[in-house]
Amino acid sequence: MTTDVTDLAAVRVQRIREIATARRDLRGPLIPILHAVQEDLGHIDQADVPVIAEVLNLSAAEVHGVVTFYRDFRRAPGGRATMRICQAEACQAVGAEALGAHARRRLGVEFGETTSDGAVTLDEVFCLGNCALGPAVQVDGRLHGRVSPARLDALLGEVAR
Ligand code: FES
Repeated sequence: MTTDVTDLAAVRVQRIREIATARRDLRGPLIPILHAVQEDLGHIDQADVPVIAEVLNLSAAEVHGVVTFYRDFRRAPGGRATMRICQAEACQAVGAEALGAHARRRLGVEFGETTSDGAVTLDEVFCLGNCALGPAVQVDGRLHGRVSPARLDALLGEVAR
């Protein structure tokens, strides 16, 4: 059995509407709605923007502006694994910039991008709350401290399996 692309789009619109409607009475509902959409559906698609805008009685431009302003919001589907490398000050002091450059070189992507095989999305993050054990890296939500380039390669090897 095949599922029509139009059906999938309609299911997504319905889900977006449910998520937005459930939170529209919150104070400052847009950010919580965007986080919920990303958590539930993996990313915030451009087609989601007018649906959210309609529920909140905002313009699509207003919603788009918030989605594009915050780095945390993913606008395309992510990879099967996500690696986030802290680039904030304390980690920078112990080599996080070089570690980020190593990861970008190794994966052939920039921060915010996904490898062409869909295996890994690489993101930068500004503090993971693990400042005493930098450079800090998070892989699929799991935190790793004092990550060297060799350790990063090993982590990538684990998620690429
Ligand atoms: S600065 Fe990197 S974890 Fe806080």
